[in-house]
Amino acid sequence: MVVNIERLFSRKAKTLRASEIRELLKITQIPDMISFGGGLPNPSAFPIDIVHDCIEKVFKSDIKNAMQYGSTEGLNTLRGALAKRMKTKKNINCELHDIIITTGAQQALFLSAFCFLDTGDTYLSSVPTYLGAVQAFSAFEANCESIPMTEDDIDIDSLRRNLERLHRTGINPKFLYTVSNFQNPSGETLSLSHRKELLDIASEYDFLIIEDDPYGELIFEGESIPPIKSFDTKGRVIYISTFSKILAPGFRLGWVIASKDIIDKLVLAKQAADLCTNIFSQYVAYEYINGGYLNKQVLEIKKLYKRKRDIMIKAINKYFPKEISYNIPKGGMFIWITLPKNVNTNLMLQKAIAEKIAYVPGDAFYPDGGNYNSIRLNFSFSEDETIIKGVHRLSEVIKKEIKLKYNNGPVIQEGV
Ligand SMILES: Cc1ncc(COP(=O)(O)O)c(C=O)c1O
Repeated sequence: MVVNIERLFSRKAKTLRASEIRELLKITQIPDMISFGGGLPNPSAFPIDIVHDCIEKVFKSDIKNAMQYGSTEGLNTLRGALAKRMKTKKNINCELHDIIITTGAQQALFLSAFCFLDTGDTYLSSVPTYLGAVQAFSAFEANCESIPMTEDDIDIDSLRRNLERLHRTGINPKFLYTVSNFQNPSGETLSLSHRKELLDIASEYDFLIIEDDPYGELIFEGESIPPIKSFDTKGRVIYISTFSKILAPGFRLGWVIASKDIIDKLVLAKQAADLCTNIFSQYVAYEYINGGYLNKQVLEIKKLYKRKRDIMIKAINKYFPKEISYNIPKGGMFIWITLPKNVNTNLMLQKAIAEKIAYVPGDAFYPDGGNYNSIRLNFSFSEDETIIKGVHRLSEVIKKEIKLKYNNGPVIQEGV
C-alpha cells in the first residue's frame, strides 16, 4: 500500500514551509553567479592554523573525553571561559551555571520557543527580523506581533500602542525577540536608551526578552553598547550568542545566558533534542579562548569585514541610482537598501538572477510580508573585486527596474 505521508505528518510538521527565497537562492551556485544573498562569513576569516593547533592540544590533553558524550549543559571549562568573557566584554554578571552551550544560536532559539510558546501564543519582534528566528517560533504555531523600526531603532511608541491593544484583548505576549547589534538584516543597532526602555516595558507588561547577539563583537567603529542582559537584575532576558561569526559556523556552537529556572528548562528540552552539543567542538573552542586566540582573531575579522563594507558602500555610491537609500552599518555583515516604493524586489530577483546577481528581497524578513521595496546585501562573503562587480551588475538591474516603473506610472509616494 502506498503511504499517504501527508496524512501522517503532525500538525506542526504540516505548517513547516520551504522558503521560496531560499529555494531561489539555491540556484545561485551556478558558475559566474555573484551572490550577496547568503549570510555567510568569509572563509578567509576562519582561523585554520589556530584551529589545527587547538585540535592538537585537545589530542594531547583529553582526547578520550573529547570523544565521549558530554553533559547537556556543555563543557564546564568552556562555560567558565564564556562566563568570564561575558563579564569582561559585555558586563553581563553571570556564572558558569547561568550558561548552556547549544548547537548554534539557532538551536537556542528553537529550544527557547519550545519552552515558552504554546499554539496560538503571541510574541513580539521588531521588523525586519532574522528569518531563522521566525521559522523557529512559527514551528510552535505562535503569532508574531511585528513592531516596526523607526529610521534606525525599534519604534517604542508603536511597541507601547501594540501592547495596549493586545492587553485590551487579553493577549499577553510571552517575549520580545530582538537582535540588539548590527541586525540581520537591517545592520542597525538598538540605542542604549531603548535597551533600557525595552527592559522597563518588559517588566511593566511582564514578558521576557530574547536578545540574540551574534554580531556584537564585529564592531568596526564607535563604542560597543552593553547588551540588554547587562541591565537585567530580575532574570527577564535570555541572551543568545554564537561562535559562528567569531570562529566558524561549522563548529555549530552557541550559548545562552539566562536565569537558573530558564537554564534548567532549556537543559531538559535539549536532552530531548540532542542530548548534548558536539563535545569535540567544545574542547577546541575552549582551547581557542584559553590560548588567547579569540581576541586576536576577532580583530582580524573586524578588519576584513570593515574593508569589505567600505568597498561595497563605495561601489553603491558610484553605481546605484540616486533614488535608492541605504544605511552604513557600524558592524556585522549586512547592508539594507531601500528602493522606490513601487519597485517589487521579489519580482526583480528573477531578473537579477538572470543577470547573475543575487540578493535577498526585504519582504522575506517580515513575518507578515508586505515590504516589497527593500533588499539585504551581504558584504562579508565575496572577494573584494567581486563586490564591486556585483554592485555594478545589480545597479544595472535596479536602474532598468526603476525606469520601467517610471514608464508605467508615477512613483507611489509614502503614505499613499
Ligand atoms: C540573528 C541571527 N541569529 C542566529 C543565527 C544562527 O546562528 P548559528 O550559526 O549560531 O546557529 C544567525 C545566523 O546567521 C543570525 O543571523
